[in-house]
Amino acid sequence: MSKLNQIKALVLNRLYRVFPTPQELAEAFAAELINQISEASAKSLSFTLALSGGSTPKLLFTVLAEKFAKSVDWNQVHLFWVDERCVPPDDPESNYGMTNMILLKKIDIPDSNIHRIRGEANPATEVIRYAEEISRYTRSLNGNPVFDHIILGMGEDGHTASIFPGNQELMFSEKLCEVSFHPVSGQKRITITGKVINNPDHITFLVTGSSKAPVIEHIFIKNTILPAFLIVPAHGEIKWLLDKKAAEFIDR
Ligand code: 6PG
Repeated sequence: MSKLNQIKALVLNRLYRVFPTPQELAEAFAAELINQISEASAKSLSFTLALSGGSTPKLLFTVLAEKFAKSVDWNQVHLFWVDERCVPPDDPESNYGMTNMILLKKIDIPDSNIHRIRGEANPATEVIRYAEEISRYTRSLNGNPVFDHIILGMGEDGHTASIFPGNQELMFSEKLCEVSFHPVSGQKRITITGKVINNPDHITFLVTGSSKAPVIEHIFIKNTILPAFLIVPAHGEIKWLLDKKAAEFIDR
């Protein structure tokens, strides 16, 4: 069976859950994430978490900061990013910068646990450095890094992390991190590849808003090959958390 047919066969059982509002989605997922971190901490294990940029994670970070800042020992948590725009950390476009403002400044997490992608560095060397940093802090399975949890968003064009429909071969790259370009703005980005995205213990997609309803229909019903469609973890669990508006065409 070809790689794509294998993926199609696997995704027939795609799990999703629909929430009335983005706020309820963010609150439910924040509580679940906090439980996972607490369980790891109870066993004195660290918890490796890869974050996305975008509006839906933003709401999650707000909920984590407001309701769960003191609920876990953040010393146990190592934060990474699935992608970054090639801009300095204080640029309004920086994924790290957004997370820093909304979450990191409000929780007690050591700087040494924050593993940002250096958007201001030379992208060609940064992809190598970041791949090494990921490998140093995660365990390995089948020769690839395993995050405890990866949080993903999805664009209206079906992109996820910074893997876009025009460069979805990055999903099958031999490297762990690659340089990518936004297809419309041409903005340079750094992204993790399929080797990392498809290898964690847990993946959660956070997708909200009616602008995402058509692409959700493509992925769940029409089996359209888009980057987000290609997220099928090698061994872990994947969940799609949607709000009512994003699920409009699949949850009637
Ligand atoms: C980024 C992202 C990207 C994002 C989606 C969804 O840096 O832009 O990591 O993959 O998650 O574009 O973004 P929204 O939630 O804003 O629609």
